[in-house]
Amino acid sequence: MSSRPSNVARSRRAVELLDVQPTDRVIELGCGPGVAIAALAARAAQGFVVGVDHSAVMVEHARRRNKAAVKTHRVRLVQGPVETLSIDGGPFDAAIAINTIGMWPDPPARLRDIARLLRPGGRIALVGQPRRPGATAADSETVGRDLVGLLSEAGIEHVRTEMLDLNPPAAWVLGRTPRAALDDQRD
Ligand SMILES: C[S@@+](CC[C@H](N)C(=O)[O-])C[C@H]1O[C@@H](n2cnc3c(N)ncnc32)[C@H](O)[C@@H]1O
Repeated sequence: MSSRPSNVARSRRAVELLDVQPTDRVIELGCGPGVAIAALAARAAQGFVVGVDHSAVMVEHARRRNKAAVKTHRVRLVQGPVETLSIDGGPFDAAIAINTIGMWPDPPARLRDIARLLRPGGRIALVGQPRRPGATAADSETVGRDLVGLLSEAGIEHVRTEMLDLNPPAAWVLGRTPRAALDDQRD
């Protein structure tokens, strides 16, 4: 499902906008079959990319798609739920989650967990594209507003939105972790 051409275009465009640098450490949550992981690893050529997904089937797809980078330890794939994130290799420079956050329990709590994996000022991007038949650009705007709300609720700062020119558009929302720790907001 997630390797449909429209989903591939969404993942690649979402990664382009994240402005990944060659030495960046990046984590993707709900990585599905690893399309964005491949695009992230191509950019973070001297860095490190971690993909997390709770589906064993998806992790296996991602592993096959990123076989060479997994072999050279530039990509690590972790099977498990975002609810119990325990990831070595940080702090990360950036995190991304594409069309998955709506499936998570307590998204603001999960976003605070993710923020703790990032360096201060690290980037966190959420992408949402309405998938129901007949979805319109207005639906995408609503998705974007919801994502902005989630990031703000999680204490993520400097939030901005772009619309990816897809059909329907995908909302791409970026924020930065605060320079001070989020520990006092731990729940
Ligand atoms: C619609 S797919 C999107 C996959 C990929 N991000 C993309 O855009 O192609 C959602 C993915 O999120 C994963 N997922 C959903 N809930 C999750 C959770 N609580 N923890 C980890 N992964 C989750 C699913 O297994 C699935 O691979």
